[in-house]
Amino acid sequence: MALNDDALAQIFTKARTHTAWQDKAVSDETLKQLFELLKWGPTSANCSPARFVFVKSPAAKERLKPALDQGNVNKTMAAPVTAIVAWDYAFYEHMPRLFPHDQSARSWFAGKPEAIQTGGFRNGTLQGAYLIIAARALGLDCGPMSGFNNALVDAEFFAGTEVRSNFLVNLGYGDASKLHPRGPRFDFDEVCKIA
Ligand SMILES: Cc1cc2nc3c(=O)[nH]c(=O)nc-3n(C[C@H](O)[C@H](O)[C@H](O)COP(=O)(O)O)c2cc1C
Repeated sequence: MALNDDALAQIFTKARTHTAWQDKAVSDETLKQLFELLKWGPTSANCSPARFVFVKSPAAKERLKPALDQGNVNKTMAAPVTAIVAWDYAFYEHMPRLFPHDQSARSWFAGKPEAIQTGGFRNGTLQGAYLIIAARALGLDCGPMSGFNNALVDAEFFAGTEVRSNFLVNLGYGDASKLHPRGPRFDFDEVCKIA
């Protein structure tokens, strides 16, 4: 059954990328609800490589700040939460549990750096997209960002682990009055073929 137009507008057609935020907190409960939705998005062999840090406290925001590109500092420091979307290079160690019906799945990746990179990055990025869709479905607004220094974030938040950052997503309730006009998108015929 298709979602109704209001739901489609909330998730896609009227959803915007936000950089200014209402003074309205995002509860830890909402962040848990967000994960409980996004985790159901599909990944190859259910490998689920994404790891998330929800940077919320002022102290944690200060740890993130030096890694941000100048143009992303104010919007990120003002956002109620910034999600670090990361992925675990050792994700395949969990595959016996996550893909129980094929116990050989771990061996598709173990000791194979190219497969780890391709599979981990592809599926971890998909899970970041699921986070955006799930957030919008819960009534949150998002501001995804790649303008930051990954190595600095990794040193600050993932030292001593095999988890590495991919991109950031500011989360909160957007201030729509600060939006600029929306950029166009391609038409179907420009970028799609039905073969
Ligand atoms: C992966 C990714 C990285 C982005 N990086 C930045 C960024 O570093 N700084 C920024 O201000 N906007 C960033 N954006 C925001 C995009 O410019 C914005 O989502 C796009 O123009 C669509 O805007 P709309 O959702 O309002 O139509 C990024 C978006 C994505 C998905």
